[in-house]
Amino acid sequence: MNNATHLRFERTEKRFGSTLAVAPLDLPVTQGEFVVLIGPSGCGKTTSLRMLAGFEPPTSGRILLGNRDITGLAPKDRNMAMVFQNYALYPHMTAAQNMGFALRLRGMARAEIDVRVNRVAEMLGLSALLGRRPRALSGGQRQRVAVGRAIVRDPEVFLFDEPLSNLDAQMRASARTEIRSLQRSLGVTTVYVTHDQVEAMTMADRIAVMHQGVLLQYAAPLEVYERPADTFVASFLGSPAMNLMSAQSVLSAAHAPAGLFQTLSTAHTLGIRPEHLHLVGAHSGPQDGIRLPATLERVENLGAETLLFARIAQGDVIIARIAGTQSLPAGLPVELFASVRHIVAFGKDQRRLTLEHQKMTWTAPQGATKNQTEQYALLA
Ligand SMILES: Nc1ncnc2c1ncn2[C@@H]1O[C@H](COP(=O)(O)OP(=O)(O)O)[C@@H](O)[C@H]1O
Ligand SMILES: [Mg+2]
Repeated sequence: MNNATHLRFERTEKRFGSTLAVAPLDLPVTQGEFVVLIGPSGCGKTTSLRMLAGFEPPTSGRILLGNRDITGLAPKDRNMAMVFQNYALYPHMTAAQNMGFALRLRGMARAEIDVRVNRVAEMLGLSALLGRRPRALSGGQRQRVAVGRAIVRDPEVFLFDEPLSNLDAQMRASARTEIRSLQRSLGVTTVYVTHDQVEAMTMADRIAVMHQGVLLQYAAPLEVYERPADTFVASFLGSPAMNLMSAQSVLSAAHAPAGLFQTLSTAHTLGIRPEHLHLVGAHSGPQDGIRLPATLERVENLGAETLLFARIAQGDVIIARIAGTQSLPAGLPVELFASVRHIVAFGKDQRRLTLEHQKMTWTAPQGATKNQTEQYALLA
């Protein structure tokens, strides 16, 4: 991946009558990058992708590919291949015919089409299935034919619209890895739409989080996870979700060093991920954080980890995620500790604040890219 922008939404907006499907969107995608658009149903993901593909003209703004304005180009002239959620395979054609169809439309010679289809079928483990029609293929096989059909076209850009949502959990996990490693080896710039946070976290170079047509954050997966731009992003990624609590109610119940207490009181809302809450004994625990007295309401042992549902003094129930199994009784008074570096503060407008206690005092190694610098910052 080099750093040149390959594909770009530039103030691209889409309205359907009075519905604002996509608010003016600015989103640059780097050459070879894998970008995931994520957000709840109806947030504008498919519409954004369809504007890239040329199926939906923007109401205003532009779409740039390389240095070219392609906003007005027909889909077939964009050199992009799209994989649809329902795969859109022709039922009367074999897998091979489906994969080669676009090439046939282009007038490519039969022999050349066969070479390409066979090569891609081999990549995808479909060689033995090329003579079958879609109804004689499993869901996972159909999904791979749909991906293969995109690859044989040798496009400049791949567009995926929730391509794994019709697969069972196990198939999804392996298809995720397969698509990502194919994309890496082909080096094709990719925009991938999903509402599945695991796909976003594991596949993306960068995640674009959308809500009600608006792009809320565009950054590397860990950055979005650790430093969500606002409370919506904070609660959308992560399972169980980040605990979000009124700063006032937390501080009226918590113990914290005076300086930190003062810093936290500048926030409106405090967020702490379940895995960053730890059980503390009466005499243990580091100093640079808050301790929250709480009462256990419920304990869910999941085998590898245990979820503690604890009610804090002001009435909120928060979830702590503890490694391994814990047999603790409901009703037990406990204290939960969170380090200041894992407390996310939000202002009244729900946007994330950088707290005085979290300001960085180190510098990244020389020559580090912006992305690497952000990653070092997360490790610091
Ligand atoms: N062809 C259309 N006509 C009218 N409204 C549409 C059309 N397509 C999408 N919308 C609306 O635009 C918004 C975004 O839809 P969509 O992009 O499909 O969301 P997503 O893919 O994130 O679920 C929704 O409110 C949807 O109802
Ligand atoms: Mg959609």
